[in-house]
Amino acid sequence: METNYWQIDQQQVGQSQAIEQAAALLQQQQVVAFPTETVYGLGADATSKQAVDKIFQAKGRPADNPLIVHIANREQIKEYVTSIPAHAEKLIEAFMPGPLTVILEHNGTIAKNVTAGLSTVGIRMPDHPVARRLIEVSGLPLAAPSANQSGKPSPTTAKHVYDDLNGRVAGIVDGGPTGVGVESTVLDCTQDIPVILRPGGITKEELEEVLGTVMLDPALAKTGDKPRAPGMKYTHYEPEAPLWLVKGDAAFFQAKIDQYREQGYKVGVMVSKELATQLQAETIKVCGSQADLTQVAVQLYDTLRAFKISDVDIILCESFPEQGVGQAVMNRLTKASSRIVRN
Ligand code: TXA
Ligand code: MG
Repeated sequence: METNYWQIDQQQVGQSQAIEQAAALLQQQQVVAFPTETVYGLGADATSKQAVDKIFQAKGRPADNPLIVHIANREQIKEYVTSIPAHAEKLIEAFMPGPLTVILEHNGTIAKNVTAGLSTVGIRMPDHPVARRLIEVSGLPLAAPSANQSGKPSPTTAKHVYDDLNGRVAGIVDGGPTGVGVESTVLDCTQDIPVILRPGGITKEELEEVLGTVMLDPALAKTGDKPRAPGMKYTHYEPEAPLWLVKGDAAFFQAKIDQYREQGYKVGVMVSKELATQLQAETIKVCGSQADLTQVAVQLYDTLRAFKISDVDIILCESFPEQGVGQAVMNRLTKASSRIVRN
């Protein structure tokens, strides 16, 4: 398949021909990748089973992993759900548009393969002018997972999307690098106390400021439990080489680098700029500062993608504090890792 590629200036979305063309493809049941404030999404008409099937095919995504429905204004939400509970209303008011997905009971309007047969649907209003304009002009709710090949790190640039999906999708709208860097927070709002199913761009602390108590899905902490966000059980975010998460200080980290190097591994290192100055290794990639986890989130997937199997056999990665957006960062790194190396 020929993949159309459009570059868009965020300031000019109002007059963009590219948006008109991308929207026309979506109306013809094709799939198109577009930027959001979190990561790039791969969109299709959420009311069309045929269109949504193409998302699963292009990504190689398991069919039992439901998709988030993207809308352009808050008024649209009621078209797809049975009701909006009071706490969800508060969240919508406080965080939409923004990196929050609310899970509510759906009313059957959305195609069944979007929700993987569940009684609920995830809804999100992206805070990105290109995403919103594309949804508006298409006149469609857009089902959209992250626009990566299933199992790989999510895409934060159009180049990442191109590398994974060129030839497999009808179009890629390049609106520059995304802002937040990690995906939206997925929050189950079907119960009295909302439950975070996937930590993301809106932090637990921010949610609690608006709502009081918010719970974390116990499956996020324990590896044995079946996670309730179906997608959380699959391999995710994997770089080309195995990633091992290191829990320990600089001396311990250096000892591990030396040990694996002696064992014959080409060792890559993914760390903050503070830790980088204390380590010696052949390949060191810096993913931000310990003092600014927001920046680590922004650079996370791009750094994971920068390690090439031709250069490294293993990647040793720093562990970050699980506070604020650090919770999402550590959730992704833990899922990306095949081993935890502890002191
Ligand atoms: O920031 C984001 O959320 C990005 C951008 C493109 O919007 N999208 C994204 O989609 O990350 P995806 O498909 O990669 O992840 C969606 C997550 C999965 O873990 C999925 O299982 C969960 O949301 N999910 C979707 N619908 C759900 C539902 N009805 N109940 C529980 N979990 C759901
Ligand atoms: Mg994804």
